[in-house]
Amino acid sequence: MKGVTVITHPLVRHNLTRLRDRHTQPQEFRRVLSEIAVLLLYEATRSFGVRRRTVATPLQRSTGYQLQREVVLVPVLRAGLGMLDAILQLLPNARVGFIGLKREESTLRANFYHQSLPRDLRRFEVILIEPMLATGGSAVAALDLLATARARHVRLLNLVAAPEGVRCVHARHPGVPIFTAALDQRLNAKGYILPGLGDAGDRLFGV
Ligand code: URA
Repeated sequence: MKGVTVITHPLVRHNLTRLRDRHTQPQEFRRVLSEIAVLLLYEATRSFGVRRRTVATPLQRSTGYQLQREVVLVPVLRAGLGMLDAILQLLPNARVGFIGLKREESTLRANFYHQSLPRDLRRFEVILIEPMLATGGSAVAALDLLATARARHVRLLNLVAAPEGVRCVHARHPGVPIFTAALDQRLNAKGYILPGLGDAGDRLFGV
């Protein structure tokens, strides 16, 4: 699908299968999700801009690079937390905002319960971390918030996407690239991704 990068690295596939496995317990699920988050981030940041800078090695001056923009990571609570620490290992200077959204089971609508973001996101690379892109309701609500905070350079880091969610996101935010480990078949009647991995928050935290 246009605007979606499915990361098919063998380590990603291997780890995603462990996450899908219903027998994988929360402790292992957390560890594997952290491992896969690093691999996904590596691909998702490939197009980050860099600027040249001079660096003095112990031997001579040379030309090097630095990231063009500061980074803000925005995990969507709860499941986004499962990828945050690992990503911070690679981007230790990143700022972290949070968006709390709870899906209402009867309507599948996303309700806000928390938001903390830098006021003006224009100059930042923003990585929205939403592991499960199901109906797309939460991702769109989060992207709306980021747009209100004037974010210009946003990408969505995802683990498993449903085609319905991708279409929903791109209908409202066509310029936002999506990076995912899998584009699954479809949603079931309760809005769960098939085959998916179940409720990512529950799998992570055991409740
Ligand atoms: N959220 C999840 O955690 N899993 C799904 O399958 C859909 C939404």
